[in-house]
Amino acid sequence: MDKLLITGGIPLNGELRVSGAKNAALPILAGTLLSETLVSVGNVPHLLDITTTMELLGRMGIGLTVDEKLNIEVDTRSIGSYLAPYDLVKTMRASILVLGPLVARFGQAEVSLPGGCAIGGRPVNLHLQGLAQMGAEIDVRNGYIHARAKRLKGCRLVLDLVTVTGTENLMMAATLAEGTTVIENAAREPEVVDLANFLNMMGARIHGAGTDVLEIEGVPSLSADGRLYRVMPDRIEAGTYLVAAAITGGRLKLKDVRPEILDAVLQKLREAGARISVTDDTVELDMGGQRPHAVSIRTAPYPAFPTDMQAQFMALNAVADGVGVITETIFENRFMHVQEMQRMGADITVESHTAIIRGKPALTGAPVMATDLRASASLVLAGLVAEGQTMVDRIYHIDRGYECIEEKLSQLGAEIRRVPQ
Ligand code: EPU
Repeated sequence: MDKLLITGGIPLNGELRVSGAKNAALPILAGTLLSETLVSVGNVPHLLDITTTMELLGRMGIGLTVDEKLNIEVDTRSIGSYLAPYDLVKTMRASILVLGPLVARFGQAEVSLPGGCAIGGRPVNLHLQGLAQMGAEIDVRNGYIHARAKRLKGCRLVLDLVTVTGTENLMMAATLAEGTTVIENAAREPEVVDLANFLNMMGARIHGAGTDVLEIEGVPSLSADGRLYRVMPDRIEAGTYLVAAAITGGRLKLKDVRPEILDAVLQKLREAGARISVTDDTVELDMGGQRPHAVSIRTAPYPAFPTDMQAQFMALNAVADGVGVITETIFENRFMHVQEMQRMGADITVESHTAIIRGKPALTGAPVMATDLRASASLVLAGLVAEGQTMVDRIYHIDRGYECIEEKLSQLGAEIRRVPQ
């Protein structure tokens, strides 16, 4: 297993291009299952989770071609199986996103039930409930979800809580249902909007994406006719590099970014003392060599502060001036990075879903272990500012969600390298 070796203490400085969004690319690739003709997806990040999704589609018999610009062309006409097997689902929970499209278009799906996860239980009951309300027969046995439907029927769905992939799965299923589906309490995340735009490009009739009520008029079929859809930029990758610059007292210009979907994160960075300026597709941050001020955060569904940025701000608070309070409301176990940061000298007390972080002038480098994707990123950030060397183990988590992280950070002047095992 590769590790990342970081020597801390260098203020980052430079420019970076933000990659395509993992959490938009994954549902969009699953959504290609709905197209009766060729469809191309561009600006797809080069990540382990994308490779897993391609393997999943490939095993169903779907034709996949990657061209010289790294666009992925998908041909669903050769599909021969409707199975998402355990060995893939266990490595990537987002595999559940093929369930809605498979049942809607082919009337059948067999998808391994994802198990628990390092950050929480993460059940998929709302995905299944919604499909059942649309008329699918759902049977869970031997660890697999078996779903069948002649043609799904539009209906009114009121989601018990805001779920991102749940909203995406049901929205995809509803595109081909008979009649109109209304999804209330839908997730408003920009990745849901990106998926809706992609589906509408193929002829879907989705209204209200970006609000908490989606209305989807079912159509008999969807077809991209070979068109290309470019995935939106990754707001969490963007936020992570902005924190990297802020935590080291550095400067950063991000290109190919959408500042308007980063409001909650930019607000907290301003509170931490960063000077920030934006254009339509760039964000510049300048920390002016200053130590950040502590900030308090409460995670919640979009447009509030994203849970996927919580760990990174924990690292920032660990070296900030003052005391920060972070409350995690989305996942019940998303503080696994705390113990590792404590090994680097951080002063953090956790009480239930709240962490109290008393900032210290410095952390000290240590060997630490990544437990999930965003936790790993936060340990890299802590390593960038710690005195001495930090070795981050189990970085396969990082490779699931950050494209070439060590190259991008090196480009900004960081001393970081991958140590193969
Ligand atoms: N939930 C249920 N039942 C369901 C679905 C969700 O109880 O049927 C609960 C979850 O257990 C959780 C809450 O609802 O407590 C919200 O979970 P959600 O379904 O929104 O999460 P997700 O769709 O599984 C996506 C992202 C996550 C991100 C969350 C929250 C993708 C592929 N994953 O997960 O991204 O943290 O939304 O914004 O889009 C990451 O990129 O590191 C990551 C974990």
